[in-house]
This record gives sequence, C-alpha cells and structure tokens, in this order.
Amino acid sequence: MSLRELIVERARTRGPLTFAEYMDLALYHPELGYYTGAAQQSGRAGDFFTSVDIGPVFGRLLAVQLAEMWPMVDGAATRFDLVEAGAGNGRLARDILDAAVETPPFYDAIRLHLVERSAAARHAQAAVLAAHLPTIASSGPDLPDMIRGVIYANELLDAFPVHRVTMTHDGLREIHVDADGGHVVERLEQVRTAGLAEYLKDLGVAIPVGSRAEVNLLALQWLRSAARRLERGFLMLIDYGDQAARLYGAAGRQGTLTAYHRHTDATEPADWLDAPGDWDLTSHVDLTSIVACAERHGLQCLGALDQTYFLLGLGAAEIAGSAGDGRAGLTKRLAVKTLLQPGGLGSTLKVLLFGKGVGTPALRGCSQGTRLT
Ligand SMILES: C[S@@+](CC[C@H](N)C(=O)[O-])C[C@H]1O[C@@H](n2cnc3c(N)ncnc32)[C@H](O)[C@@H]1O
Repeated sequence: MSLRELIVERARTRGPLTFAEYMDLALYHPELGYYTGAAQQSGRAGDFFTSVDIGPVFGRLLAVQLAEMWPMVDGAATRFDLVEAGAGNGRLARDILDAAVETPPFYDAIRLHLVERSAAARHAQAAVLAAHLPTIASSGPDLPDMIRGVIYANELLDAFPVHRVTMTHDGLREIHVDADGGHVVERLEQVRTAGLAEYLKDLGVAIPVGSRAEVNLLALQWLRSAARRLERGFLMLIDYGDQAARLYGAAGRQGTLTAYHRHTDATEPADWLDAPGDWDLTSHVDLTSIVACAERHGLQCLGALDQTYFLLGLGAAEIAGSAGDGRAGLTKRLAVKTLLQPGGLGSTLKVLLFGKGVGTPALRGCSQGTRLT
C-alpha cells in the first residue's frame, strides 16, 4: 500500500486528518515516510540544501561557539554533553568534532549524544563519525536526561509537523486533509485541536480574513522537554523562522509551508499534497512563541539573530579572508558567501541562543548584537 492509499484509507475510516497528522505520516511514517527510507535527503543528489551541505566550514564555526561555552557550563569540566537533536547521519557533528580535535582538552571532554528520529539516518552515523567513535555517548530517537553542556539543532523545529489554519468570514478554521476518490484533498473544519486557538490568543495576533498560517505546537512541546532535560548549559537552535507579527499579522499571506523535491520548491498544495512521502515539507518557525515558551520554562534568551550575523561573530569573514588562493581557497570563500548570503541561507535561517544556570555571558556568536531582519 502506498502512503497516499494509506492516508486516503485513514480519512475514509476515521474522518479527515489534521494537517499535522498528514505531515507526520508524510515525513515520518515508520516505513514510507520521506525521512524514514534514506540516511540523507539533502545535498546535491537530494531535494534541498542545509548549511551542512555547503561544506565543513559551518561545523567549524559552530565549534568556535561550543568551545567558548564549554568552560561556562562547569568550569572546563572533563565532561561536556554535546547533544545534537535532528542529527541526521551525523555530518554536522563530524564537522564540529573535526574542528574541536584541534583543542585537545575541549575535545576530550565532549560526550556526544545524537538524537535522530530516522532509524536509517541513525544507522549511518557510525560510518560518518568513524574518526570520533569513542566520543559518542549515545544515539537514539529521544533527548537524553540530565544534560550538562549544550543542546543544539540545525533545521529541526522547521521539520516538525504543523497545524494549518485560515481565517474565514465565519471565523478561524483548521485545514484538514481528506479523501476525494483515491486522492488527498484539503478540507476546512472547525478548530478542534487543543491549544491551537489559545496559541494565537496568547500572541495577541489576528489572522486577516483570507490568510493562512501554520502553528507548530510540537516545537513548543519539544522545547519544554529540552528545557527540563538541560540541567545546566545552553540551547542553540538554527531554523527557518520569523517573528510572529510577520507570520500571522500581514494580510494576504498564504503561510510558509514549502515542499521540496529534487531542488524544486512548491508552495501550492496541488503540486505535492497528493504525493505524500515524495516531498520534504517545512515551515518557518514562530520565533516569538519559541522565545516566550523557553523563558516560561527556565531558559534565558541570550541572542536572536540572522545566521549571517551569528557566523560573522564567530569569524566567518576571517576564514574567508585567510582561505588562500587556488581552487581550495575559492571553494572555501564561496562556502562562506553561501552561508552568509542575505535573502538566502544567511537571512532566512535564524539563530536562537538560550542559557540555563550560566548567567548572561556575552557570547561570540552574539557579538554583532540582536539582529533579526
Ligand atoms: C531538515 S533535516 C536536518 C538534518 C541535519 N540537522 C542537517 O542540518 O543537515 C531534519 C532532521 O530532523 C529529524 N527529526 C525530525 N523530528 C525529530 C525529532 N522529534 N527528534 C529527532 N530528530 C527529528 C529528521 O528525521 C531529519 O533527519
């Protein structure tokens, strides 16, 4: 049975699915989901690029931030938990460790925990991280408990299943997914999902009539769990995101949900809704709600900025400047440019930094100030 047939069957027998239920099946169904079958979906041979695909320079820059955080957690203790959530096959962790190895006391303290929902990606981690196997403390689908160190994630929350809503003349409606013949179609329903209307009410935003938006309830649930499990240290999140006023307040917006397949992006559901499992689905994270939720759960926001300014603070310009001549130097400079590009990865990706029990240190990554464009 194909994933489309399975979703059609489920809608027929149990009624329309919320979009979050559809997206969860489309991306994470245990056998047929987009992320389930392959160890890696990004890169030139895949469907989309993440900063990790641009080259090792991204991991090298993150390593600068992590090395600075290490003595701030437990005074350069010999145990430093590095927890990567949504670690995929471990390429970002490898790039970070390849850089960290140049600072032996820091590298020796690292206990790496890889948290990844896809079993295929988890199975590939040992080969990708072959040079760093003694550093791996755990690999599994769930965040570990009692973390003293850093939890970090690149493009995790923007890959979570979201609810979709639209404002009609009769009030707020939730976009569901239903069966029509053998096909998957959208269906507007009354809002029944617990927490959805409250989410928008807490923000104090009114979605204009005719506009659509996404609500990422799972991101807040994940954040609460991360805040609880982090005993002391930092949380660093890098995601496609925007401020709530921009996501929800502007007239005529159709939301940010985007589907990717072989480097083609599509926002019209007609292009991808009927082919679940073939497309990556992602949506911009509401930074305003993330920060408010984190602060309600014991985390202190230390910085919120575009990836451009974060990476500049960590020395991206210096890396480009010292890249040298020749092909290797050019490749490195181009990689830095791609990571910083305004209108591309540099400004669409936002970085949020939080601390717990570490005071309010001035972090290198935040040295350009709070700058969200
Ligand atoms: C867009 S990919 C990013 C992968 C990698 N971080 C990178 O930057 O290339 C999102 C990853 O998060 C994983 N993921 C999604 N939900 C998760 C969850 N709740 N816990 C752990 N991993 C999850 C997916 O399986 C996928 O590997």
